[in-house]
Amino acid sequence: MAMTQTQLLHELEPVVAGELDRHEKTAKEWFPHEYVPWSEGRDFDGPYGGEAWQESDSKLPEPARVSLIVNLLTEDNLPSYHHEIATTFGRDGAWGTWVHRWTAEEDRHGTAIRDYLTVTRAVDPVKLERARMAHMQSGFITDYGTMLQQLAYVSFQELATRIAHRNTGTASGDEGCERLLARIAADENLHMLFYRNLLKAAFELDPDQTMRAVTDVVTTFQMPGSNIAGFTRMAMTIAHEGIYDLRLHLDDVLLPVLRQWAVFDKTGLGPEGEQAREELAEFLKRTEETAARFVARREERRARARG
Ligand SMILES: [Fe+2]
Ligand SMILES: [Fe+2]
Repeated sequence: MAMTQTQLLHELEPVVAGELDRHEKTAKEWFPHEYVPWSEGRDFDGPYGGEAWQESDSKLPEPARVSLIVNLLTEDNLPSYHHEIATTFGRDGAWGTWVHRWTAEEDRHGTAIRDYLTVTRAVDPVKLERARMAHMQSGFITDYGTMLQQLAYVSFQELATRIAHRNTGTASGDEGCERLLARIAADENLHMLFYRNLLKAAFELDPDQTMRAVTDVVTTFQMPGSNIAGFTRMAMTIAHEGIYDLRLHLDDVLLPVLRQWAVFDKTGLGPEGEQAREELAEFLKRTEETAARFVARREERRARARG
């Protein structure tokens, strides 16, 4: 019989405690202020009477700017994400300690990126603030109703943000930006490890239900900022630049995590688990075809642009 959500939370609690301990030993303390070139800063218009932002202030290429905005707005929506995981995982015991620790670490990401962008005048600060207001006011509500689905989602999502941050840094062509985003990406990687290990433990407790949750999430996965106004166009720019695209999503996010869970080597699944695994395999096959087509089209576009 499938375990209930309460049973799963209870059975996973010691795993959470162990993972928390491992996380605290591995995570390195770091300071956002050390990653911002404050001496480049100058006053803006307004009470300080400086100069308003203009396009020529930014040294960053357009795709990196677009990606930084998407990444920052996503980080900004932390209160909504906190609400979602605090509601599902609870705020007591080891689960609660993790929820709060994770929230504190994530809060640093938005702070550091915003300071960096403002001081270096990399993006329009007025547009950015308006976008933040709009995005946070629309909030975020997860599509996933169960704890296992949410665990599966965050396992992939933390890795996806790691890749997106790291590749944005590379695309920026700016040493400081790259250093900051690599530092944030290292945090995201540890978050991914935490959730991935928890879900691995869930596979031991209830393989069929866990397999179902993984398939549900993989087949419907959306990036966390997908409700940002204008996201589709921004995502196209980001994909065209190779910062985050379906190829990377499959090769660097979905497949490595699925491999760690050894989903295709598992024995002893019941009919429901087998069914879910077949759906997953079918989906991955289709995604591989779509990803290959996307890359081929992008190559053609790039070749045409080179003339
Ligand atoms: Fe983050
Ligand atoms: Fe994270």
